[in-house]
Amino acid sequence: MSTYEIKDRALAFRGAQKIAWVRDHMPLLRAIEEQVTALPPEERPLAGVRMTVSIHLEAKTAYLCQVLAHAGATVSATGSNVLSTQDDVAAALAASGISVYAVHGVCDEEYYRHIEMSLEHKPHIIIDDGGDLVHLLHTSRPDLATELWGGCEETTTGVIRLKALEAQGLLKFAMVAVNDARMKHLFDNRYGTGQSTWDSLMRNTNLIVASKTVVVAGYGWCGRGIAMRAAALGASVIVTEVDAVKAIEARMDGHAVMTMAKAAPRGNIFITATGCKDVITTEHMLLMADNALLCNAGHFNVEVDVAGLAALATSHHEARTNIEAFVLPNGNRINLVAEGKLVNIAAADGHPAEIMDLSFAVQYHSVLYLLEHHSALEHKVYDVSAEIDERISKEVLAAWGITIDELTPKQADYLVSWQW
Ligand code: NAI
Repeated sequence: MSTYEIKDRALAFRGAQKIAWVRDHMPLLRAIEEQVTALPPEERPLAGVRMTVSIHLEAKTAYLCQVLAHAGATVSATGSNVLSTQDDVAAALAASGISVYAVHGVCDEEYYRHIEMSLEHKPHIIIDDGGDLVHLLHTSRPDLATELWGGCEETTTGVIRLKALEAQGLLKFAMVAVNDARMKHLFDNRYGTGQSTWDSLMRNTNLIVASKTVVVAGYGWCGRGIAMRAAALGASVIVTEVDAVKAIEARMDGHAVMTMAKAAPRGNIFITATGCKDVITTEHMLLMADNALLCNAGHFNVEVDVAGLAALATSHHEARTNIEAFVLPNGNRINLVAEGKLVNIAAADGHPAEIMDLSFAVQYHSVLYLLEHHSALEHKVYDVSAEIDERISKEVLAAWGITIDELTPKQADYLVSWQW
């Protein structure tokens, strides 16, 4: 029987509408749903499997949970960031029979209590986003780790944490690095974060992007997407980096490259996407122009020194929904979006549905991989196989109505030959 702790069950209608909308735009997940629901319950691939999913609880992820349930799993769901949980979606998910523990905007203590409640379902397989679920399984609830077959990690920061656990020999179960699949990070991190960061900034500020100077910290997969879309909207882009090769790449892509200290007085909009901490400090903020806009697209709210900003400011007030204006001792205002939390998810709807369709197809096939192979897996971080990437890429082309050329046998031979 499902249980839940959500804001308000009466919000379910609006949440169900949101899920129905994304379902229409997620052809790969829909095909999986159609395939599994054609089978009798006992023959469904995840029949008898208990799963816990900790992920930004909005419409696309809710649909993933429903597809896993259609495939036979008993699913418990929780959030992976208090601001990204959408209460109407959580209500719709609970109404559809899934156990849900998530409420938008609760304190950290409640957030972790909800994760613990979701784990009480004693999962065989978990899906994590950022590593909070895995962290609890290695700290306060190691007893529950023993029953686990393994799990999947959705994002770069989560994979970094897993590899750190693995390197110290502390990882308690097998994990699949879904983020590192080509069909995930090439599209989700780059085009998903690229579009949704600007969607969030435009809807929250109602300001023009063209003519602005945008400073993007980090030129990894997310930073590349954010910078590319900023340039397309007419902004001048400055990139800050700590990796020389990525810095050169940013320069070759047409962006200015400099240190954050040099970029600080030049920028109008600052976006961090590094997965690192203390990228924008109070020293930088004091160099910024009046009304600079600060936000973070990296997983944790440690990239902008939010506590330092609050301590430095002489006053602060809500400037608009999701924007807090801090007045500095020099009289300049700093506008912080979404408390420095994931700007595209905490203050908007996250990635486009079509993008998450690819990421969640990778998640689904990785779950099947764990189901099939878990007894042979060690306590390590596993890559998604090339076969899964290839299979999903072909399904995407088919769903999008795109055909591409195929190598002739002669061409295939030529490409692996040293004679010509
Ligand atoms: P990545 O590893 O591809 O890129 C990170 C880049 O930041 C690297 O090029 C690195 O050299 C650079 N960097 C590290 N420390 C820096 C510093 N102090 N100053 C300047 N640059 C620095 O990682 P990816 O995939 O781009 O992810 C970045 C963050 O975004 C992670 O926390 C990840 O979990 C998160 N993420 C957020 C999404 C969203 O929806 N907002 C979606 C996917 C990932």
